[in-house]
Order: sequence, then structure tokens, then C-alpha cells
Amino acid sequence: MRLSSANINVMVKACRKASKILIRDFGEIENLQVSPKGPGDFVTAADKKVEKILIEELQKARPNYSILSEEIGEINNSDSFKWIIDPIDGTSNFLHGIPHFAISIGLEHNKEIICGIIYDPIKDEMFTAEKGNGSYLNNQRMRVSARSKLKDCIIFTGGPKHGSMNSELSLEEYNKFSSHVLIPIRKLGSGSLDMAYVAAGRCDGFWSRELNYWDIAAGIILVKEAGGFVTDFYGDDKYLENKTILVTNAKINKEMIEVLK
Ligand code: IPD
Ligand code: CA
Ligand code: CA
Repeated sequence: MRLSSANINVMVKACRKASKILIRDFGEIENLQVSPKGPGDFVTAADKKVEKILIEELQKARPNYSILSEEIGEINNSDSFKWIIDPIDGTSNFLHGIPHFAISIGLEHNKEIICGIIYDPIKDEMFTAEKGNGSYLNNQRMRVSARSKLKDCIIFTGGPKHGSMNSELSLEEYNKFSSHVLIPIRKLGSGSLDMAYVAAGRCDGFWSRELNYWDIAAGIILVKEAGGFVTDFYGDDKYLENKTILVTNAKINKEMIEVLK
């Protein structure tokens, strides 16, 4: 059984509260698919509501921490701690009524992520991690997979997006990758859950381009604490500057870098 720190408890409480709205609103989506206007505005409003609750709860418990959140941007405070928030990661899934999305919160201290939570409210799966204390799915310790041959692996990616120059991955690159290694590639539509699944050993790696800090902040600590690697496509830790991210189990990192670079 794990011992949760005070900060993890604050994050869990905020996620649980915000997820009530998220689940309720997700229940409405099905009805909106058939309306002429579609669910777009409703989803934007849900995103903002969830973000508001998260921020209120986090600020109540930690008034001096700074915040970076996808919808509202930065709230700067004196403290050297910062919450990095993605209220709904996997918005396209949410919009289409696909039950695969999450709330993601990382806690940064002196430019390093020290805690993270990724909560999938539909499956009630709570992934948490804290520096030096391991990664957990609900209360079970998580470890990355031990698969070492790419042909036996499942790799997740965010790309490609058609018609967008600065997309995660071009179609050409995607095709090159899939034909090169002949491994199953999955695109599930939530970068944070992709990373949580690497940490849980459900898949063996994940790579993407052009992700934002809020997409990956919590996932970084989850994967590291589960024994995995987090690098850019060149094997360095400049994933924020270079806007390329590769997360893997401990066995396939080098081979994946060879394929991607
Ligand atoms: C998106 C998801 C998706 C990834 C996109 C992100 P959002 O975040 O993580 O998996 O491919 O690049 O923008 O918009 O759902 O918060
Ligand atoms: Ca996101
Ligand atoms: Ca989002």
C-alpha cells in the first residue's frame, strides 16, 4: 500500500471533484451528436468548467503556487511550485462520445516535474506518481513493460494529422515508421493517457511531435517513476525545446531513437 503525499492528495481531490462535471457532461454528448449545431460549443464550455473547478480546488489548498493551464494560460505567483493543467486531454474523443480522455495535472518545482496525476474518469483509473516514490494505478504499483523486440511491442503515437504542417507527425514519416519496423502502432487520441499506458506497461512506447507542456507534464513523472525513459527524438532531455517526445520502456529506447531520428 502506498503512502500519498499531501500534494498528491490535493491533486486527487481536485480531480475527483472536477470529474463529476466531466462525467455528467459526457453523458449529454450523445444527445448533441444528432443536433444540427453539434456538440462543439458544449465541449468548449465543459473544458472551461472543468478547468475552473480544478484551479479553484488547487488554489484553495495551495494559494501561492503558480499555474499554467491550457485554456487560461499562466497565473504567476511568488512560489517556486507550479501546477501544469490539461483539463480535458483527448477533447476530440470527448466531442465524439468516445470514452477515452483524461484530466492531467503535473506539479513542477524548480523546473522539474515532481508529481503527476492522470485521471480517466470513465474507467475510474487514477494514475499518480511522485519523485522517488514510484508510480501507481489506483493503489497498485506500476512498472513499464520488459519487451525488448520492437516486433513484439505496441507503440502509441499522436500523429499524423492530415493537412497540418506543424502536426505531430507527417503522413510520410508515419508510413516510413510503420513500414520500417513492422510493429503495431495505435492512435488512441489522448497523449496523457498514452504516456500513462506506457508507465502501466500496457504499451511499450509512445512518440509525438508538437505536444504542449500540459499534455506531457504528468506523464513525464509517471513514466520515469515506473522505470521508463523520457527523451526527445535524439535521446536528449530537450523534449520541451525540441517539441518531440519519445517515451519508452527501458529496453527499446535506443532502437526507437534509431528509427525516429
Ligand atoms: C491533444 C491530445 C492528442 C494529441 C494532440 C493534443 P487535447 O490534446 O493529447 O492525443 O495528439 O496533439 O493536442 O487538445 O485533447 O487537450
Ligand atoms: Ca492535451
Ligand atoms: Ca485539453
